[in-house]
Amino acid sequence: MQKTGIFYGPEKGSVSKVAKIIATELGEGNSELMPIKEASPAEIEKFEHIIFGISTLGRTNWDSDHDDNDWDQFFTQFSKINWEGKKVAIYGLGDHINYPDHFVDAIGWLKEKLKPYNVEVVGKCDAEEYQFNDSEALEGLFFAGLPIDEDNEAEKTLARVRNWLKKLSQEHTF
Ligand SMILES: Cc1cc2nc3c(=O)[nH]c(=O)nc-3n(C[C@H](O)[C@H](O)[C@H](O)COP(=O)(O)O)c2cc1C
Repeated sequence: MQKTGIFYGPEKGSVSKVAKIIATELGEGNSELMPIKEASPAEIEKFEHIIFGISTLGRTNWDSDHDDNDWDQFFTQFSKINWEGKKVAIYGLGDHINYPDHFVDAIGWLKEKLKPYNVEVVGKCDAEEYQFNDSEALEGLFFAGLPIDEDNEAEKTLARVRNWLKKLSQEHTF
């Protein structure tokens, strides 16, 4: 089994918590965890199988150049990475009760950032499993990645992660 690179941000909240759960579920020695803030293009290039973790904090935060936005800083590095042969799976933290019209939008925004590089993004999830009104992460009946709601449904996180990893393993050899 190849090692999976798990890159996540921000560092201290639920995104980070879920990154650690994913690493545990992949099994010891099967992944490397790194805050996206500390990652370089060379770190990303070490892996063919990559998991990106992100949270949705609203369009204004996303579009701003705040230097407290870990991901914003890394987007400038995307063009320096050789993405050939890489598979990227995205998980996104959100809150379906307080933000039902923008649930886990950032999964979609991050996928959009990868588009110019023709990166293969894998790990869609059936939207039927979630309650929400709308999301920019939606592609037909699926989310472009794995939505997690630690604010309201923390008890579902482990099963959601396990199902997702099982599919990634079966369909994409993660
Ligand atoms: C200012 C702010 C805006 C948010 N906007 C959204 C949103 O548009 N959609 C969504 O699903 N969740 C939204 N959330 C919920 C967060 O994504 C959620 O709490 C997530 O777990 C935060 O992850 P973190 O603790 O790693 O930062 C927002 C939270 C905050 C504080």
